Amino acid sequence: MNTEMRIKTDTLYREVADKVAGLIAQGTFRAGDKVPSIRQMSRQMKVSINTIKVAYGLLEDACIIEAKPQSGYYVRPKLPAIPEEPDLNPPKPVSLQLTSTELVIRLMQDILDPEKVQFGAAIPAPDLIPEQKLSRILSSVNRRHGKESVAYAIPPGNKKLRVQIARRMLRAGCSINPGEIIITNGAAEAVFLALRTICRPGDTVAVGSPIYFNFIQMLKELGLNIVEIASSPSTGLHLKSLKLALQQTDIQACLVISNFNNPFGISISDDKKEQLVKLLARYRVPLIEDDINGNLSFGDDRPTVARSWDKYGDVLLCSSFSKTIAPGYRVGWIAPGRHYEGVLHQKLITNIASASPTQLAVADFLESGGYDHHLRHIRREYAAKIGSMSEAIGHYFPKGTRVTRPQGGFALWVEMPRAVDGMQLYKEAWKNGITIAPGTVFSTTDDFRNCLRLNGAFWSEKNKWAIEALGQKATELATKSQHL
Ligand SMILES: Cc1ncc(COP(=O)(O)O)c(C=O)c1O
Repeated sequence: MNTEMRIKTDTLYREVADKVAGLIAQGTFRAGDKVPSIRQMSRQMKVSINTIKVAYGLLEDACIIEAKPQSGYYVRPKLPAIPEEPDLNPPKPVSLQLTSTELVIRLMQDILDPEKVQFGAAIPAPDLIPEQKLSRILSSVNRRHGKESVAYAIPPGNKKLRVQIARRMLRAGCSINPGEIIITNGAAEAVFLALRTICRPGDTVAVGSPIYFNFIQMLKELGLNIVEIASSPSTGLHLKSLKLALQQTDIQACLVISNFNNPFGISISDDKKEQLVKLLARYRVPLIEDDINGNLSFGDDRPTVARSWDKYGDVLLCSSFSKTIAPGYRVGWIAPGRHYEGVLHQKLITNIASASPTQLAVADFLESGGYDHHLRHIRREYAAKIGSMSEAIGHYFPKGTRVTRPQGGFALWVEMPRAVDGMQLYKEAWKNGITIAPGTVFSTTDDFRNCLRLNGAFWSEKNKWAIEALGQKATELATKSQHL
């Protein structure tokens, strides 16, 4: 070997040793971690096995790594004394003193906790999501639509999907042109885009109350005032109250969940839908109609949408496949009537487009007829779950408790005796591994303190204990307050 070669080899093994020592100092490999094997390192750094052996020898001598027989090289537990990494965000003890925004965030984040009984957020039952079928469809559409599946699905979005949606809406008594539909990231984005299009900060929106808690947060964040219109737990929105609000307040939009609403689980009748659309038309107030649960009817037919009575293009119909197919697919849509151009623009500037592969997959699922079969199955299952959960509530909750009678979806609204504080029950339940949605998050008022919404999708005999525990605690709280 000539001198020049030797020098080069010398620097090479030092280079390798320095590189590995550097990775350890930066924390890429920590005490106890296995470092890449001699063979891997030789391939990665494109140097000979011998060079790596010498480099690792140097690191061993410097007590930075150690060899373990039959296993490889590991970072030595005792690293040279480097000060601890900064810990600017040490974990805080869990606080149950939450603002309503924090509570809503907690309700959503708790979905990720497999240890909790998920009676809180209104998410579908995992075993009623056709996961394997979807994964087959997804890989098949990715294969068949290679370029399309990786390109932007520029709004209005996938045409096949829009055609399928338009066809299905005929069953809701509603004729929509596929060219009027815009695909969104779920129904939440559909409603958000509608509000952004119609309203300006400082405007006022009338909402059917109580209402899905994310909508309250959304309206507040957009700087909109909320006028809550009272609703009956059996027949929905009180039109008289809405009329009064329209007469007395300058209202720019009305937001209503027309079918199997969240949180009551009930629908407004056809009559009322017609009157609602006519009343709003008289005041030239657009209606944002959320029909996310419309396909989850326990009966044979799905209900109509208020949009069917719209003559002026002033009903912005919003929905998604989050409850019926998969919430994580984030496939929703809006048919915004005469507000089409505005909503399209809002969609483009908000996030350009919705994901392409899931649009293709949902279109395929709808087109193949698999969706109808799936819907029949989950509707039966949810009907049974809501039935059994209601019975269990009747059995375990304190006397005087009332529950709604949903005809679809999987939300169940529970009104407990006045003395029971839903927030107190939420806190106790949370500590015992059960999440529930306390009534107060569904309103800006204090009117629903003694109420809860339960996610019936997670009812099973296995989770019956959780209803029993909730009932016992509610009874305790009711009794305690009687003695005060
Ligand atoms: C009534 C209602 N609208 C909208 C949403 C949000 O739906 P998505 O996940 O499709 O955005 C939900 C979710 O629970 C809901 O209950």
